[in-house]
Amino acid sequence: MEASKFSLLFFYVVCLAIFPSFNATIEHSDPVWQRRSKEARDSAKRSYKPNPIKVTDEFNTHVNSALKGSKSTRRGLGNKSKSCEATNPIDQCWRCDPNWEKNRKKLADCALGFGHGTTGGKDGKIYEVTDHTDDNLVTPKPGTLRHAVIQKEPLWIIFPRSMQIELKAELLLTDNKTIDTRGANVHISNGAQITMQYVNNIIIHGLHVHNIKRKAGGLIRDSMSHYGVRAMSDGDGISIFGSTHIWIDHVSLTNCDDGLIDVVSASTAITISNCHLTKHNDVLLFGASDTFSGDKIMQVTLAFNHFGKGLVQRMPRCRWGFFHVVNNDYTHWLMYAIGGSQHPTIISQGNRFVAPNDRNAKEVTKRDYAPASVWKNWDWRSEGDLLMNGAFFVESGKDVKNAPKTDIKARPASEVSHLTRYAGPLKCIPNKPC
Ligand SMILES: *[C@@H]1O[C@H](CO)[C@@H](O)[C@H](O)[C@H]1NC(C)=O
Ligand SMILES: *[C@@H]1O[C@H](CO)[C@@H](O)[C@H](O)[C@H]1NC(C)=O
Repeated sequence: MEASKFSLLFFYVVCLAIFPSFNATIEHSDPVWQRRSKEARDSAKRSYKPNPIKVTDEFNTHVNSALKGSKSTRRGLGNKSKSCEATNPIDQCWRCDPNWEKNRKKLADCALGFGHGTTGGKDGKIYEVTDHTDDNLVTPKPGTLRHAVIQKEPLWIIFPRSMQIELKAELLLTDNKTIDTRGANVHISNGAQITMQYVNNIIIHGLHVHNIKRKAGGLIRDSMSHYGVRAMSDGDGISIFGSTHIWIDHVSLTNCDDGLIDVVSASTAITISNCHLTKHNDVLLFGASDTFSGDKIMQVTLAFNHFGKGLVQRMPRCRWGFFHVVNNDYTHWLMYAIGGSQHPTIISQGNRFVAPNDRNAKEVTKRDYAPASVWKNWDWRSEGDLLMNGAFFVESGKDVKNAPKTDIKARPASEVSHLTRYAGPLKCIPNKPC
């Protein structure tokens, strides 16, 4: 690197160390990021559902009709194959097909909830990641994951063999990509995070994400036509920043420096499903700022996830937006499960909440920065949740005593251990149902 560039970079790094919010300053002085930020805002506006209850009802209706007549413990769910056990309708959409490998893109039809319609790289070619290294952040080598995700065109990114990828700096995705690990065992670990910043239409399926670190920034390519200086990355597992139509499915997330998944800066149309989360303090952050009302646009579905061992709090922690938390299994928390501030709407349906033995941590919910006289108006509803070992959910909202009877009920919480049985990455073998 030339000396002048180096000293510029050094200047940035020093500034970043002093002002943590400097990242925004760098981006906002860069016309490319300015344009992306504007496009992202427009895209979020287009995806926003003015009547979100319609989406929660559609979700529940779909799940109920897909599972109708099936005893929750029976295998197959309408598909007689013995080797296939798709236990919820997202999985039923593709898992029982013995040719799943030839029909990989079928997955693009399977997202439910607010992320419905996320197609990722469906319209693009298959890209095979054959090289686990990440040694060049500005000119990534063909065959690496970093090279795949910066391409302009839609791509369906797959892994012919198992690998562990240690990202040297944050991985910046571009629009219309699917990361599909089926058939391999792929770990993103011990390095930097995955970041979706001002992008649209991404599917991430089947990754193991763990031990993600805070990492220095520097010059990083964020698309084929642009690279620039980035600040230090936070050390989230997956960061969704100002992005729309994102579907995270069958991912396992453990033990990262910051959150496991952050959804911030007016992101919307998001589904997080079939994930397995363990060993972490601040688990899911949906909205990072009490002063950023732009997060009112945020609409997220959290379904069929297993919140497992070693989790402490924030599953999720919400602000401003609308959150459908449905048919998840909460078997462990140390402080609380669902929290928030700034009047988020939280519709909790058909979840199982098993409280810890600690008598002071039985409450599922937690409100921050507001007295009861204020939060009593926040719409937080629990319908058909199974509350075990002394767990209790404190509801609030105008009509909490008579929650709208018109709502479609979720699948019963008693079925949740079955619905979430295959949370986390699946082991799929070609030419067999998965
Ligand atoms: C069963 O699996 C086949 C093969 O993939 C698929 O085409 C069919 O739609 C599935 N049937 C049901 C009822 O899920
Ligand atoms: C992504 O796909 C959509 C829909 O096909 C298209 O409108 C958009 O331009 C694509 N984005 C890029 C960056 O090519």
